[in-house]
Amino acid sequence: MAMMRRKLVAGNWKMNGLQKDRQFLSDLATLHSETPNADVLLCPPATLLTSMAATRPGWLMLGGQDCAMTQSGAHTGDISAEMLADLGCSHVIVGHSERRADHGETDAVVRAKAQAAIQAGLIPIICVGETLEQRESGLAEAVVVSQLSAGVPECEAGQVVIAYEPVWAIGTGRTASPEDAQAMHAALRAAWSGADSAALRILYGGSMNPGNADALLSQSDVDGGLIGGASLKPDQFASIIRTLR
Ligand code: PGA
Repeated sequence: MAMMRRKLVAGNWKMNGLQKDRQFLSDLATLHSETPNADVLLCPPATLLTSMAATRPGWLMLGGQDCAMTQSGAHTGDISAEMLADLGCSHVIVGHSERRADHGETDAVVRAKAQAAIQAGLIPIICVGETLEQRESGLAEAVVVSQLSAGVPECEAGQVVIAYEPVWAIGTGRTASPEDAQAMHAALRAAWSGADSAALRILYGGSMNPGNADALLSQSDVDGGLIGGASLKPDQFASIIRTLR
């Protein structure tokens, strides 16, 4: 039942944010002085996590944007899930389409990263989504369901979050219609292999903004949003959180 699932609003800053942008947290706390009626997560670049962990409002959780497949060792430049947990993170995004495209991450890599996150006590936000070409060929659901089954490790529904992010909607200003998003989220829930699919949280991502958030977030199988561009602006991020009053 949808009622069981608390919504999650997650901001993904991608490769944006310098020390001066720590100001975002006080702006957000001013704009949102009440405890939000949803879980709220911010995933800034790893370079800002330490300082943000010290100054975040109590209701704001922090997450990483990626993690390694192992917890430590000879992997220059990588950051492990254990390191993120050590900083106070609760979540980590894995398998974002930009990482699949820029770094050739396969479903097997995504699954190993999600497994490493769970081992470290983090909740991985596992991203799936079809390209425009796949959607236009009628393959969207098959692609996304196959990414789900290949990219998610054996686990309980409460140990992960899924993010449906159609690649053609990311950073483009185009969004899936609320009906298309709902249909895909329902298909993902139906394809969940565990017994507790009603507990699985499935976020929508791709050009979510204050103007379209309400229509998307009010769909019964849309359990929150993964927000890129609009999460960089405190007023827009606060306004999206406020739609969940
Ligand atoms: P966008 O990004 O909101 O800028 O489209 C979403 C995402 O890629 O997580």
